Amino acid sequence: CNLTGWWENDLGSKMQVFSVDNDGTFSGEYHTAVSSAKKPIQPSPLIGSQHLDEDGQCTFGFTVNWKKFSDSTAVFVGECFKGDDGKEVLHTSWLLREKVDSEPDDWKATRTGRNTFTRM
Ligand code: BTN
Repeated sequence: CNLTGWWENDLGSKMQVFSVDNDGTFSGEYHTAVSSAKKPIQPSPLIGSQHLDEDGQCTFGFTVNWKKFSDSTAVFVGECFKGDDGKEVLHTSWLLREKVDSEPDDWKATRTGRNTFTRM
């Protein structure tokens, strides 16, 4: 699938993918519904790249820089599928790197999880 458009995940986060160019590069904006930062959540820029396979089951990855309210960075990787109902669904895995004060704290700085997105 072409990722252009609005998607919502199982946490209630929303993202808008602006146009995907003809080599699969895209940008967008991520509106997370949850955060571990102290500052109020703000929309955050994302940059990604997707395959453009004819079968529609494209893999992709993108990075979100939460710079307006958090020192963290997230990366997502995933694949687009057609669900049983014919609707597109994105199955993703993510890594969220938080900033720690010192190298001995490095061990605890990365969280991981999974999110499923559907078109809004
Ligand atoms: C932060 O907490 O420092 C910034 C916001 C991080 C939001 C994470 S990224 C992975 C997970 N999926 C979401 O939609 N939001 C959270």
